[in-house]
Amino acid sequence: MSDAPGRPRRFVRESQHETSEIMMPQDANILGPVFGGAVLAMMDKAAAVAAIRHARRSCVTVSIDRVDFREPIHVGDLVVMRASVNFAGRTSMEIGVRVEAEEMISGYRRHTNSAYLTFVAIDAEGRPTEVPELVPETAEERRRYAAAQARRRRRLEERTAEAEATAAHIAAEAAADGAAADGAAADAAAGETEPDARTARR
Ligand SMILES: CC(C)(COP(=O)(O)OP(=O)(O)OC[C@H]1O[C@@H](n2cnc3c(N)ncnc32)[C@H](O)[C@@H]1OP(=O)(O)O)[C@@H](O)C(=O)NCCC(=O)NCCS
Repeated sequence: MSDAPGRPRRFVRESQHETSEIMMPQDANILGPVFGGAVLAMMDKAAAVAAIRHARRSCVTVSIDRVDFREPIHVGDLVVMRASVNFAGRTSMEIGVRVEAEEMISGYRRHTNSAYLTFVAIDAEGRPTEVPELVPETAEERRRYAAAQARRRRRLEERTAEAEATAAHIAAEAAADGAAADGAAADAAAGETEPDARTARR
């Protein structure tokens, strides 16, 4: 899986993390159900634990893929999050987080949402640093690994396309500014500066 000799390897199960928290009134939004931001913060923390356990280094969130809230979570529900490293690149890791809400009296659990988060391991200077290789063992882990690889390719393509579009936009604006400045300089040289609106009305 890696061409770097001696790179440490870790199994998916070594970093998996499950956490749960009872939703309290302070987690609610003004309409009653739990605030989406509270759920996102819990997901980020659950994913961070899996990332840090895999890397055994400090890690930062670099991106969160689209999150759909399929069903509301209510105050009093037990929110259960399961985080697992799906794929590890050189310095980045994709973590999948599955969120379930348990109505504790009945024990009924609903899958409310899932998301993929990318974390990067950083060194003391905040620079990306190498993480261990991920070793998927089960058929499910291998399926997730391959799917995460495909998502990673798409993310990096989008990142490149966005950077190119931004660079093209900046270049076009600079060219337009340059053309306007050339025009103004030519007008000034010809003594044809535009009168302001008040002067023009008189
Ligand atoms: C994380 C950070 C150090 C990465 O720096 P960078 O200059 O983008 O680093 P690189 O381009 O070398 O990318 C490092 C890795 O991140 C991956 N990566 C970078 N941007 C990414 C993105 N938007 N989505 C997914 N992966 C990304 C790269 O593919 C690379 O992975 P690999 O080493 O496994 O191949 C930098 O972006 C950062 O400090 N971001 C802020 C993080 C933060 O503060 N998070 C909390 C938000 S409040």
